[in-house]
Amino acid sequence: MRLADRTTRIAGSPTMKVTATVDRLRRAGVEVIDFGAGEPDFPTPDAIKAAAHEALDKNFTRYTPAAGIADLKRAICDRYRTDYGVEYSESEVIVTAGGKQALNNTALALFGPGDEVITHAPYWPTIPEQIKLADATPVIVKTQPEDAFAIHPEAIILNSPGNPTGALIDESAVAAIAEEAARRDIWVVVDLCYEQLIYEPVPHNLPKTLFDRHRAKTVLCGSASKSYAMTGWRCGWTVAPKELTSVFNIIQGQTTSNITSVTQKAALAAISGSQDAVTVMLDEYRQRRDNIHAWLTAHPGIQCVKPKGAFYLFPNIGALLAPGTTSTDFAQALLEKEHVVVTPGEAFDAPGYLRISYATSMEQLREGATRILRFAESLQHAAAR
Ligand SMILES: Cc1ncc(COP(=O)(O)O)c(C=O)c1O
Repeated sequence: MRLADRTTRIAGSPTMKVTATVDRLRRAGVEVIDFGAGEPDFPTPDAIKAAAHEALDKNFTRYTPAAGIADLKRAICDRYRTDYGVEYSESEVIVTAGGKQALNNTALALFGPGDEVITHAPYWPTIPEQIKLADATPVIVKTQPEDAFAIHPEAIILNSPGNPTGALIDESAVAAIAEEAARRDIWVVVDLCYEQLIYEPVPHNLPKTLFDRHRAKTVLCGSASKSYAMTGWRCGWTVAPKELTSVFNIIQGQTTSNITSVTQKAALAAISGSQDAVTVMLDEYRQRRDNIHAWLTAHPGIQCVKPKGAFYLFPNIGALLAPGTTSTDFAQALLEKEHVVVTPGEAFDAPGYLRISYATSMEQLREGATRILRFAESLQHAAAR
């Protein structure tokens, strides 16, 4: 079969592979603890669902403008003004099918053959694959962003709070990147998909930090998926200069068009309504984070910084690996022996680590932690023998 060249450059989503394994085991009747999924376990809040019901009842089921309905774009601008103090107009917003399409529109509009695009590891695996789909070359920064500026970048993509680490990028680091990017005239793209899921009140006004220094070449990518437990609804957005937003509009208009009309009404209720449901979910995630972190780090072979945002723990299990084995081997053996799904660090360009999603119930976390600790003990006994 003759396929386009670009298909040979990209890999499938490793997190989707995990989901497929879980499905298979569950169908075979195995009781699996799933720490693999990258999505909230909460249902979408009632007020958001009610807005969707109302939209359906009123037959709001036709095409909308490709870039989204005006009310929703306005609500996104209002939210960014209120949350970050940045001023954008509706013509600078496009509503997308999740943060994924927001980032993909950006890649298609900005990157091309010969371009190098910097991003940081451990990364969310879609980011380098989208860069490759746009025929550009990902440049993965593992040290300081300044080191990578030694090459010839076209853009830099930042993700904070980060998947898989839950780390936040400091405002001061983003200010330095923005100033350097402005000097070199390169684009800064920020994936803010977990922006509402930050546990402590630390300064994290990345939009304003960039707005003040580099508004003309900043793309903010957001999503309703994680904050509002709306992964299946598919709603994200970009906030970017008008000229670029017009290009996004053309790309999207010729590919997927508008996102689901009913989703747009639901997202409008989510973004412009009370944010109390977000706080309730965040409080629950915080407790889960504290517990799973305490349970797992009680084992001396598991090192883990406490994540500051998102809903992933990213422990280093290097000390538990037998010589010549990898975290992928560890994850496979854990799945076979204890029926616990985790994502190995290799998926994020971070061998020796595991990603554990704590977007699952406290009972599942307790049971999963017990199984992981038992598995870690069994490895140490085997090594001692
Ligand atoms: C870092 C990051 N960015 C963006 C996304 C995209 O999510 P969605 O397309 O559901 O908005 C994800 C989803 O896992 C993510 O982890």
